[in-house]
Amino acid sequence: MSAVTVHNLVKTYASGGKRATDDVSLEVADGEFLVLVGPSGCGKTTLLRMVAGLETPDSGTVSIGGRDVTDLPARQRGLSMVFQSYAIFPHMKVRQNIGFGLMMRKVPKEEFDRRVKRAAELLQLGEFLDRYPAQLSGGQRQRVAVARAIVVDAAVLLMDEPLSNLDALLRLQFRAELKRIVSQIGTTTLYVTHDQAEAMSLGDRVAVMRDGKVAQIGAPLEVYDRPADRFVGGFLGSPPMNFLTATVRDGSLVIGDVSLPAPDLLSTWEGHEVVVGVRAENIQVSEEPAPGWVPAQVEVVEPTGAALLLTARLGEAQLKIQAPATFPAGPDQQVHLRPAPKALRFYDPSTGLALAVDQGLGGRVGRRVTP
Ligand SMILES: Nc1ncnc2c1ncn2[C@@H]1O[C@H](COP(=O)(O)OP(=O)(O)O)[C@@H](O)[C@H]1O
Ligand SMILES: [Mg+2]
Repeated sequence: MSAVTVHNLVKTYASGGKRATDDVSLEVADGEFLVLVGPSGCGKTTLLRMVAGLETPDSGTVSIGGRDVTDLPARQRGLSMVFQSYAIFPHMKVRQNIGFGLMMRKVPKEEFDRRVKRAAELLQLGEFLDRYPAQLSGGQRQRVAVARAIVVDAAVLLMDEPLSNLDALLRLQFRAELKRIVSQIGTTTLYVTHDQAEAMSLGDRVAVMRDGKVAQIGAPLEVYDRPADRFVGGFLGSPPMNFLTATVRDGSLVIGDVSLPAPDLLSTWEGHEVVVGVRAENIQVSEEPAPGWVPAQVEVVEPTGAALLLTARLGEAQLKIQAPATFPAGPDQQVHLRPAPKALRFYDPSTGLALAVDQGLGGRVGRRVTP
């Protein structure tokens, strides 16, 4: 049993005034892969280092496997860590680098060889065991760092941007492999990245952080589909979620000259402005006008290969729309739009919080249903 629980963790660095983590609580279930994601400086590394025991919280607790480890030194917490900078030893061969933790634990030679071999094979390093790091590519060095972390069979694996130093193609390849490896070994994993696509693809759940707080935590698609606030909707996804200002009037949602039926959820917002959020792939687009479809002007057409990304103007607002790759659109063309059924999300214009989010999502979730 190696769930990781952090409770009300607060950390302020001596030099900086604001809190690097501001009362963060979350749990990584036993065997779960949880990804902490958020923009640079939001407190991800600080949180990870407090779990690791490399940083002391001002207040709050860290538990591993139900045991309070807040006052335990890092080496007694039963975890291993992979950093962005590979931090492998240049003067040691791959074999010794991978086996470093086993050597420190004075594991007998035969077991050492067996475990190093298994970890090396898992990371496709079998043929490089007698090389020095200088004789490896960047991607291979990072594999050594991961092999070294998993060889010790720690209860918890912590990784801080382990793919960030790799070029784009290698990063995608290794990402899929890392997912396979971690699910194979089944170790409880806390993984930090600033890359939202990486977070979505790897995590059993993702925790989106902002300014030292967890803005939302949930399964990737849940968080993507129902962002708890505008920040999360804008951070996850490429392109980010579209946001439009609308007014609720006589049971309709009025955006400029356009009027759409307002869902029941908005009945208490009669006469008020709300922010409407909609994802690019949830806007249907047609060349022909039709009742209920809204005219818009195409400004930019960007083929991505698999699809066509349109930037269109709808009154004051600019929208990103994902059209089929074969959609015949050019700049300045008029098109007609309709949101897919149930694709609209609604946000409080003053707080940015979702007006209603399904029950069962963790984190800070908007529940204000009246203006
Ligand atoms: N050693 C440090 N001393 C002072 N401030 C720090 C230190 N490490 C991080 N910070 C500050 O704490 C905040 C959170 O940083 P960090 O946890 O590294 O964020 P992230 O990993 O999300 O980029 C930032 O404002 C950063 O400048
Ligand atoms: Mg960091």
